[in-house]
Amino acid sequence: MAIESLDLKGKVALVTGASKGIGAAIARIYAEHGASVMLSSRKIDALEETAATIEGDTAVFAANGGNPEQAQACVAATIERFGGLDILVNNAATNPYFGRTIDIDLPRFDKIVEVNLRGPFVWTQEAWKQVMATGGGTVINIASVGGLTYSGPIGVYDMSKAALIHLTKHLADEMGPGVRVNAIAPGLIKTDFARALWEPGGDRAEWPWPLARLGEPLDVARTALYLASDLSSWVTGEIIVVDGGAMVR
Ligand SMILES: NC(=O)c1ccc[n+]([C@@H]2O[C@H](COP(=O)([O-])OP(=O)(O)OC[C@H]3O[C@@H](n4cnc5c(N)ncnc54)[C@H](OP(=O)(O)O)[C@@H]3O)[C@@H](O)[C@H]2O)c1
Repeated sequence: MAIESLDLKGKVALVTGASKGIGAAIARIYAEHGASVMLSSRKIDALEETAATIEGDTAVFAANGGNPEQAQACVAATIERFGGLDILVNNAATNPYFGRTIDIDLPRFDKIVEVNLRGPFVWTQEAWKQVMATGGGTVINIASVGGLTYSGPIGVYDMSKAALIHLTKHLADEMGPGVRVNAIAPGLIKTDFARALWEPGGDRAEWPWPLARLGEPLDVARTALYLASDLSSWVTGEIIVVDGGAMVR
């Protein structure tokens, strides 16, 4: 019974930032559970390589998460290719700056906001306008524990994720009852994106949080599967922390 509830057969998903890391893991687990999946990110070669490793019904579309015209085109291409759009995962994000927040230059401040905050908004707006306002669906925003707590030299990135969490709640209120909108706040996950944070830890056996290991993309993908599935049919406006328990310390 539980396995049937996780079935995404007949559903269409669009995942941004899907060529590697968490987005690729989400695209893979959705396809494994029967969804048709559009993978999007900036580089078409990487997308094609990743899609070739996924068994199931997939397609690829190159788009920059921060570009509204490309968002519009990618949502339209998804509907054209698969006949609809039921699940949007706003996963693409960037962090071009490490250091004191007070010293950041405006181009990098604007880039972070453009991709990490305005991006998810625009992609959601396109999904809503093109299909979800009438057809319903679910939106999953990939935030970060950095949006819930202070975490040092990535202040503007964390601010963008805090705002994304707030936006998630507003959109959940406005887009219901047809559309559910939730967020996942991952802790430290072993991807290229966070390499500067986990690589110095090397091969340490124990990380300083209750579940003591580094997160894997699959840890986040499993939660994204739950939020896309009927198992979460009465969950909206929620932020699910997936961090091995780090937030309790
Ligand atoms: N890893 C962590 O510890 C961690 C923790 C908390 C939250 N997160 C969040 O998890 C999400 C995924 O991160 P990840 O760790 O999986 O990163 P990753 O392994 O570096 O993958 C990032 C993906 O996003 C794409 N991308 C980057 N910039 C883009 C843009 N401007 N437009 C469209 N696609 C873009 C990349 O492909 P292209 O370069 O081809 O575009 C790639 O597919 C992000 O929202 C990140 O903030 C990660």
